[in-house]
Amino acid sequence: MRIPFGTIAVTKESRRLIDEALDSVRLSSGRLVKEFETKFAALTGTKEAVAVSTGTDADILALAVLHDFGARRGDEVIIPALSFVATGNAVVHAGFKPVFVDIERHTLNIDPKKIERAITKKTRAIMPVHLMGKPAEMDTINRIAKKHNLYVIEDAAEAHGAVYKGRNIGTLGDMAAYSTYIAHIITTIEGGIVTTDRADFAEVLRSLRSHGRACKCKVCVMNCGAASYCDKRFKYGEGSDIRFVFERIGYSAKMNELEAAVGIGSMTNYKKIIAKRHGNLISMIEKFQKFAPWLYTIKEEKHEQIGPHAFAIIRGEKAPFSRNELGLYLEKAGIDTRHLFSSMPTQCPGFAYLGHKLGDFPNAEYMGLNGLHIGVHQDLGPAHVNYFIKTMERFFAEKGIKLR
Ligand SMILES: Cc1ncc(COP(=O)(O)O)c(C=O)c1O
Repeated sequence: MRIPFGTIAVTKESRRLIDEALDSVRLSSGRLVKEFETKFAALTGTKEAVAVSTGTDADILALAVLHDFGARRGDEVIIPALSFVATGNAVVHAGFKPVFVDIERHTLNIDPKKIERAITKKTRAIMPVHLMGKPAEMDTINRIAKKHNLYVIEDAAEAHGAVYKGRNIGTLGDMAAYSTYIAHIITTIEGGIVTTDRADFAEVLRSLRSHGRACKCKVCVMNCGAASYCDKRFKYGEGSDIRFVFERIGYSAKMNELEAAVGIGSMTNYKKIIAKRHGNLISMIEKFQKFAPWLYTIKEEKHEQIGPHAFAIIRGEKAPFSRNELGLYLEKAGIDTRHLFSSMPTQCPGFAYLGHKLGDFPNAEYMGLNGLHIGVHQDLGPAHVNYFIKTMERFFAEKGIKLR
């Protein structure tokens, strides 16, 4: 049996829309991107959603918005030490300094108790990551942010469908950045999207994704409608063309129509897909308990629903085998594995310039050496879950380790 990490279904609806786009004269961002944004905002429950070319760009642009709202280049953004490296890269690319805070080992998320001591006069935002779809402790984070007048931007790349205290992830901060990369639940193959309730943030996001243009209407009459003429075009200042006035330092980060077509189609079965993936995840969590204390995973608590992105496997401290030994065993059995990322400041050489040293972020570093994750996607079911558990049992039996 094979348990691939991810899957993609290009639905009938996507194929129809792709053909429609190919037959039209418009393939770069237009009507379908707008439709994808509208549907994504409705699903999340936010007033606005702005689609971009990757999840990393979603992180970058959400952060870069803050330059229009008082932030200065070189200001600080607090992020967890453990995440996919894109979170840290995004902070740097947006013109800020990443200030890392260690995580909690049982949630994999930023340790809220350690945030306040990382705040300085230069801090502008906190960017929690809902790693493996497990919601970060948003009440505490928002309380700290309010007290210190900071923005909160959720990195919700892995948290499609996650719920925290009855509220959807993606609605809990000032903005949220999602990845719609192929491994994620709603996918555009490559892509990302920022959600927010603030129309002024959404405007800046639309400008930023297109080189910082002054042209940033929610619906572009030229790209989304029948009109080939825009009323606002030559009325900017001294009659300049609004399309060629650049109000801020921008990026080139648009989503195209074919990607949006895949995304719209991938939302048609969204509820079913979430239910199937969540079922797989919960079944794995329950069956996995027998491997304690040698291995453990994160838990779904009463106040939340984990966004079923993947299943985390964490080696317990006293386990008489290494993470890589287990990973190789699973791979040989046809089960795809991924590492559970690493401590960005101390295990990713790109951040060495910040001068942190090994030992500064012990929990994130622990995950960097002891964590794995595997797929829970909608093409898997009870037979795959059982195969995974049986494979794990065989691993323990071959190691001569007795389970409880
Ligand atoms: C937590 C996190 N943030 C950001 C990203 C970046 O997304 P992308 O790969 O679409 O650029 C990812 C990617 O999976 C991620 O896991």
